Amino acid sequence: MPEILIINGPNLNLTGIREPEIYGTLTMDRIIADVEQAFRGRARISYFQSNHEGHIIDRLHAAGFGTVQGIVLNAGAYTHTSLAIADAIAAIDTPVVEVHMSNVAAREPIRRSSLIAPVCIGTIAGFGPAVYSLAVSALLGSDE
Ligand code: DQA
Repeated sequence: MPEILIINGPNLNLTGIREPEIYGTLTMDRIIADVEQAFRGRARISYFQSNHEGHIIDRLHAAGFGTVQGIVLNAGAYTHTSLAIADAIAAIDTPVVEVHMSNVAAREPIRRSSLIAPVCIGTIAGFGPAVYSLAVSALLGSDE
């Protein structure tokens, strides 16, 4: 069975509590459990969250050379600032889909730019927690 790794960056551990008017009231534990349930029997979902840039880079490296079929990455605010995470995505072989629960294109100007978008295979934003399942579907593609 294919394995898809979901990586969440800073502050996403507070989903459900943090700015619920933007990110909703579901906790990240619940969101990930729903993704696991949705893909039961079709994909193994693994999950990693860190508030630290270097830890996210280490996890990308560890999953980046054939150990998983694809990576779903919500880099949080690092999306807009981290050339180091962009370089890590460029360095690895595993395809990465960028996700954002909010519609970053409709928010403050700094959130409209992504340093990681050019090195990801695609971006899904603005559909709330559903972005995680949409990205897993995109990565599974015709293998599903
Ligand atoms: C986010 C959008 C980012 O701009 C923000 O810094 C986040 C969450 C989202 O999921 O909508 O932390 O990635």
